[in-house]
Amino acid sequence: MKKLAIVILSVVLLQSLYAQKTENNIVVDTETGKNVISRHIYGHFAEHLGRCIYGGIWVGEDSPIPNTRGVRNDVVAALKEIAIPNVRWPGGCFADEYHWMNGIGPRNQRPKMINTHWGGVTEDNSFGTHEFMDFCEQVGCEPVICGNLGSGTVREMAQWIEYLTSDNVSPMTELRKKNGREKPWRVKYWGLGNENWGCGGNMTPEFYADQMRRYSTYCKNYSGNELYRVACGPYDEYYAWMETLMKDPNNRNCFQGVSLHYYTICHNWTTKGSATNFDENEWYQTMSKTLRMDEFVTKQTAIMDKYDPEKKIGLVVDEWGNWFDVEPGTNPGFLYQQNTLRDALVAAINLNIFNNHCERIKMANIAQMINVLQAIILTNEDQIVLTPTYYVYKMFKVHQDATQLPIALTCENYEQAGGSIPAVNASASVDKQGLIHITLCNINPNKDLKLTCELKGKMPLSVARAEIITAGKMNAYNDFGKPEEVSLKKFSDVKSRKNSLTINLPAKSVVMVELAGK
Ligand code: AHR
Repeated sequence: MKKLAIVILSVVLLQSLYAQKTENNIVVDTETGKNVISRHIYGHFAEHLGRCIYGGIWVGEDSPIPNTRGVRNDVVAALKEIAIPNVRWPGGCFADEYHWMNGIGPRNQRPKMINTHWGGVTEDNSFGTHEFMDFCEQVGCEPVICGNLGSGTVREMAQWIEYLTSDNVSPMTELRKKNGREKPWRVKYWGLGNENWGCGGNMTPEFYADQMRRYSTYCKNYSGNELYRVACGPYDEYYAWMETLMKDPNNRNCFQGVSLHYYTICHNWTTKGSATNFDENEWYQTMSKTLRMDEFVTKQTAIMDKYDPEKKIGLVVDEWGNWFDVEPGTNPGFLYQQNTLRDALVAAINLNIFNNHCERIKMANIAQMINVLQAIILTNEDQIVLTPTYYVYKMFKVHQDATQLPIALTCENYEQAGGSIPAVNASASVDKQGLIHITLCNINPNKDLKLTCELKGKMPLSVARAEIITAGKMNAYNDFGKPEEVSLKKFSDVKSRKNSLTINLPAKSVVMVELAGK
């Protein structure tokens, strides 16, 4: 009897010890942050794919849809609202078969061709260099142009840069002026090919490195424009590609950034799963695979650190996001998918990861901006839908150019079907006005979590405001002609006491808490 009592007591003690260990707690150091979260982490990607450009951005000057010089007004307004810092264009795989001279001059004289990568549809080149640059100017964001290294020539790439950025006397600047643009544009971010290990030419890392050096040599800085050249980097765990690019100093001299692509695929590349019709296992798989972004970034960064310990070269995650099966009845080559609360969690997790790695990550671009993959905006003729992912960008814009704050997070796990992942994900920053922002995800779709937040540093602080994105169902989404089911709401379940907070994080939610000095 005595023995049994001892055993029971030990079990109870062990359980309470475990419970203490798995208490949900975040410590935010409000004073020792040193790395800036580049606003370019909040970047976007628009490819000539499906209805991203045509119908999404560009409707043409004669369209009944309200537009400015052919660009949709509703889309521009929505993008300005979330302060998008940049857009990467024209691809993607499309970039390595895009010949920019087809997209300049009078629109009715531009050649029509087949978009062989995406849906086999006619590309009439009506959206080209001038239209893209005008779009960026209307939105107030920076262009990120991906040059054609796969099937274009060195001369073609060199001339595109000259056409865009040079103020000198040259045939390219004369051509630009003839096409209606007197002054050169400023273009900082320049991609040296896209996925050249795959659709961009199926190259080996060694062959790509040689090509990259050759193309990069002729990417010149004209008239005060300074390029930030982004070499095509690896996908998820293609570490050998990163190693080859980074180890040779002659390679490293040819770029300022190197890209990384990683998509969240719920199942596998053949059956990716439905964007809206999924169960809890698929929710779990999606979250668990998204969290792998942290592993890939950490390991790719470790390779970069070996050769660039001063972190001069940026990691540019210029394609990421959820990739599901296309919506039934839509063109498989158009990659059109709906966007649910699950996508909001995936966006927030990735953005928190990027914030926490901001010492190395200098840019990230979700794929893709409109009507393709994990879109922030969907359009249907003259209608527009802001997706749950859009609201994450609206909530997280407070981190742009803010200083990242160190955090220490301990939390319980979310367990499902034999698997287990941390239930909470977070990042924090302090902006130029001294406002502190903590963004948090409760990944568990079934359980509200009580999180204590200890604030280390200058006090006192108080909660200025808080916001939440959540919904009743995991697969809630916003649709055309219906009231929004997922959006940004005020959040009040946060209590402050001296230098600590208690936050009740509802199941399957993204929360932002803003703290100000008293
Ligand atoms: O975003 C869709 C495609 O995914 C891009 O064109 C390509 O770079 C990647 O494989």
